[in-house]
Amino acid sequence: MKKYDFDQIIKRKNSVKWDGMDLRYAAHPEEILPLWIADMDFRAAEPIIEALQQRVDEGIFGYEYRPESYFQSVTSWFEKRHHWKVQEDWLLHSPGVVTSLSVIIKEFTNPGDKIVIQTPVYFPFFKIIRQNDRTLVPNPLAIRDGRYVMDFENLEKIIDQDVKMLILCSPHNPVSRVWEKDELLRLGEICFKNGIRVLSDEIHADIVFKNHTHIPFASLGKEFLENTITLISPTKTFNLAGLHTSCVIAPNGEDREKFSRAMDVLDLKSGNCFGQAATEAAFRYGEEWLEQLLVYLEDNAGYTLDFIDRRIPRVKAYKPEGTYLLWMDFRQLGLDRKELRDVLLNKAKVALHYGEWFGTEGEGFVRLNFACPKQILIRALEGIEKAVSQL
Ligand SMILES: Cc1ncc(COP(=O)(O)O)c(C=O)c1O
Repeated sequence: MKKYDFDQIIKRKNSVKWDGMDLRYAAHPEEILPLWIADMDFRAAEPIIEALQQRVDEGIFGYEYRPESYFQSVTSWFEKRHHWKVQEDWLLHSPGVVTSLSVIIKEFTNPGDKIVIQTPVYFPFFKIIRQNDRTLVPNPLAIRDGRYVMDFENLEKIIDQDVKMLILCSPHNPVSRVWEKDELLRLGEICFKNGIRVLSDEIHADIVFKNHTHIPFASLGKEFLENTITLISPTKTFNLAGLHTSCVIAPNGEDREKFSRAMDVLDLKSGNCFGQAATEAAFRYGEEWLEQLLVYLEDNAGYTLDFIDRRIPRVKAYKPEGTYLLWMDFRQLGLDRKELRDVLLNKAKVALHYGEWFGTEGEGFVRLNFACPKQILIRALEGIEKAVSQL
């Protein structure tokens, strides 16, 4: 067995995470630790790197088709990891999950139609609904017993005949819930009896911690299979976001045709040769790396929760059930947006995602990405502790 070293600190080049966003506005950008955008500071699994190296060694980068083995690698992964038998002909390629969501919204709904999202949630959902001229209808998550849950009562209240679609984020970014079977069943029951199609963004499906299980929404029954389009990708699981490759799972033949035609019009059906090679290697040979990654991430999560609990008690953190994202409530500090940014960026010297980006419910919250070597995580937490203690 190969032992992967997630403690290794690697200097990244042209990285959005290390060189982008707030870092440019910081007084001393070189001092800032970036724990924001959702990629990891870990070297990818060796079999993926080898597959890419082999592809480079060929030296010809012409047009490629996706071989049978590519589709098999995806379906076998789903069967093994998620106990869902996906048929190869349900799969379609897309350069990214957000691209797919946007194309599906445009193709499957009409301007003015209502689309529900459960806020706080991954902020590009807002953009693609609004920029496609659809009406965004938030169904804010509720907090019960210190845990985020879906608010089914409110969902039933806000549904009318104009609501045509719901985007499910499963597991949920940024609150890091791994939805349970009864929650998903209830959601499906409400959506399907009201003729609402579900787009299930399951990009975080593989990063799930002990005592939690990711359940593919579409796997829950015939009605779920027929009325759900699932978006998945190896890019979060295996840290390959820069390769821009993903899959759409559309078991319903008419949906598949419609999506396929729309992608054809945009000429987005062919992928890049590296994305293809990496996907197949990841799903075929990446499990050993993933298992070790999950142990490391869960340890980072535990360390962070304990640190915050003991040393920054005025901040409340929500225990992640999956993903590598920690949702933290800074409201007790009584800071406005500008003050909180200043404290984090210029005093704590960390770049995090600000909660309001994820919806109004996120005001006063921040999202921390703990997928980094522990040494960096500790420095970031100590920075936050020091900055908060001086308030
Ligand atoms: C829930 C969710 N969906 C989609 C994406 C991005 O997917 P892609 O890069 O394939 O568009 C992210 C990235 O953080 C995410 O968290």
